[in-house]
Amino acid sequence: MYENLSNLELMKVFESLESHTDDVVRKRIEAFIRKEKKLQGVLWEIIQLLVSIVERKDPYASYHHQEMCILACYVAEGLGMSKEQVDGVCMAGMLHDIGKINLPDELFRKVGRLSEDEQKLMNTHPQLGFEILKKIDFPGPVATIVLQHHEKMDGSGYPSGLSGDEIVPEARILCVTAAVEAMTSPRSYRPAFSISDALKEISGKNGILYDSSVVEVCKKALFRQLTPGNLISKTVSTRGAFS
Ligand SMILES: [Fe+2]
Repeated sequence: MYENLSNLELMKVFESLESHTDDVVRKRIEAFIRKEKKLQGVLWEIIQLLVSIVERKDPYASYHHQEMCILACYVAEGLGMSKEQVDGVCMAGMLHDIGKINLPDELFRKVGRLSEDEQKLMNTHPQLGFEILKKIDFPGPVATIVLQHHEKMDGSGYPSGLSGDEIVPEARILCVTAAVEAMTSPRSYRPAFSISDALKEISGKNGILYDSSVVEVCKKALFRQLTPGNLISKTVSTRGAFS
């Protein structure tokens, strides 16, 4: 009966049972819930630590992961994904560029555009990230989402040139949100795009590079972002990426 439930859902069932069980069982349930919550906290702390290593290495990634995570979770919820899928998207959103920790520092310090060879090397980061994460038992296919987060619907992405349904739905979300965040972050060779320009760009490639249903929900989130006072705007404004 409970075999298909995630640990989070199981905890909710246990919580509802607490008042109907005897002392011994209730104490064991309470201990399980405490341990589970502690493990979740530890997992998030480890994820944040890993992300801080990437952000130290790549100065243009600062705040990027947090923003992407917020946007990706909003889109996953908007698409009606399960709690476990949303958690998977959120974790993959935080960890999507973790493979960059295995790339040479010079790639991130370079002023100006990368050469063709340097770009090829940079494009190995999804595979490197997959290798780091594949043995960890995350909720959902986090390692696969990270591996596929630069794949495009028309097969023009990397590392495998997957197309359409070959790309897991969670990676199709990160593909769009990563593109938005990359566009709206400054680079050494260009200023940050405005959110309006990012909206135009993803709308123009809707159904070609990007999953249409993802783009629609993402556009709604970005329209909200254009309204002052929401969470994403606050995060973004702290680093002055938009003016
Ligand atoms: Fe990436």
